[in-house]
Amino acid sequence: MKLYNKSVNCDNINKNLLNIRYAVRGPILERASQIERELQKGIEKPFDSVVRANIGDCHALGQKPITFIRQVVALAACPQLMTCPDIPADAKERAAEILADCTRGSVGAYSPSAGLSLVRGRVAEYLTARDGVPASPDDVLLGSGASDLIKSVLSMFVHEKDGKPSAVMIPIPQYPLFSGTLSELGLQQADYYLDEENQWALQPRELQRSWTVASETAHVRALVVINPGNPTGQVLDRQNIEEVIRFAYEHSLFLIADEVYQENIVSKPFYSFKKVMFEMGAPYSQMELASFATCSKGWAAECGLRAAFVELVGLRPEALAALRASRAVMQCPTVLGQCVLDCVMSPPAPGSASYEQFNIERSAIHRTLCERTSAAYQVFNTIPGYSCNPIDGSMFAYPRFDVPARAQRAALDSGVSPDEFYCMQLLEQTGVCVVPGTGFGQLPGTFHFRTTILHPADEFQHMLHSIAKFHQQFLEQYS
Ligand SMILES: Cc1ncc(COP(=O)(O)O)c(C=O)c1O
Repeated sequence: MKLYNKSVNCDNINKNLLNIRYAVRGPILERASQIERELQKGIEKPFDSVVRANIGDCHALGQKPITFIRQVVALAACPQLMTCPDIPADAKERAAEILADCTRGSVGAYSPSAGLSLVRGRVAEYLTARDGVPASPDDVLLGSGASDLIKSVLSMFVHEKDGKPSAVMIPIPQYPLFSGTLSELGLQQADYYLDEENQWALQPRELQRSWTVASETAHVRALVVINPGNPTGQVLDRQNIEEVIRFAYEHSLFLIADEVYQENIVSKPFYSFKKVMFEMGAPYSQMELASFATCSKGWAAECGLRAAFVELVGLRPEALAALRASRAVMQCPTVLGQCVLDCVMSPPAPGSASYEQFNIERSAIHRTLCERTSAAYQVFNTIPGYSCNPIDGSMFAYPRFDVPARAQRAALDSGVSPDEFYCMQLLEQTGVCVVPGTGFGQLPGTFHFRTTILHPADEFQHMLHSIAKFHQQFLEQYS
């Protein structure tokens, strides 16, 4: 019998896939899962449980869902519940409205590939109200998460000219969806560093440096901005956004504004890139922009239901058509996710049957964010050798810490970076699972980790205390 040779191996697999790194679910998390299994088997540890602080998944940290959203989703999935007397009339009306836009009234049917027209209309209304600039449902594409849409938009830049690939500028530190997707698509990554000394500001001279370096080997086509920042938590001020827009204009760059944390704001005002571009007027208002929002973040935080949108501004019709065609190949985003997006774009209004409960739930979520950001900022700035910028938005802290020279040498000997070494030790000794700065990028010689901050209050305090205690012991061991 002929021997079957498996066709994919390390030599012939798409090399781009081998280059993908996504630290948020990297080796530290693998070890954390292993430790959880060891604890279940009764293996002794200096702690009782693992604290997962590696991912921005609020429901996984105990946040309760918004009742109105789940009622609408339940009704849309199971219309028999329409007769249930406990569900308020406005949730029933909303579900009925969505079902009327679904083929044969079922969320089990594919929707148009760009998404249900009702929901895209609702997104356009939300954007018009947010920016004071008219938005069109025709410029909105819905997706199964922002990751899905970001990958589609980045795929537009896969193109070689004169033997040079395209490059996309991304911030460092960045959310590794960007570095991972650029690797997968074979696009060149052009790093620009955020200025940690100035609250993670985005400096035009650093943009220029990055562009100049990248232009030697590639055609720089697009500029990614993450605002509010992940992992850094800064919210850009309006003047800084204007500077970025001017820079992109000067270099004919396509702007990719990852604005997924726009509803996770603590104090500073949020300005969308679209609003600022339009208020700057021509020629800036004619630039190309893709701006993303998602139901995985904000007060809904429905990561598992996968729903997001991108607004595409100023694209040539042929570019928009090509993007639409590539989305059509994937059929459509999940329709239950589109129900969630509809509720987020148009939540219960004052006076409606669901408003009171919705308002209580949403306010509690916002209060928690404000408390945790300020507690994390305070504690990280009191640990000797630690510093942390104010956290204006998103749901993370990205503190910087010193690693003694001896520990750096020990890390080198074990073949990992000092921050990876530190985070692994932190996990082994306290059960706290954070993501080393290497996974997001950091200025050489500086060390960070990213932690989510939305755990229940007692777990959060315990986590901060464990980190502070561990750091003290680590310094004693390696100084
Ligand atoms: C900055 C940023 N962009 C995009 C995403 C993708 O979110 P999703 O695909 O869940 O919508 C995330 C998720 O954590 C993120 O932090």
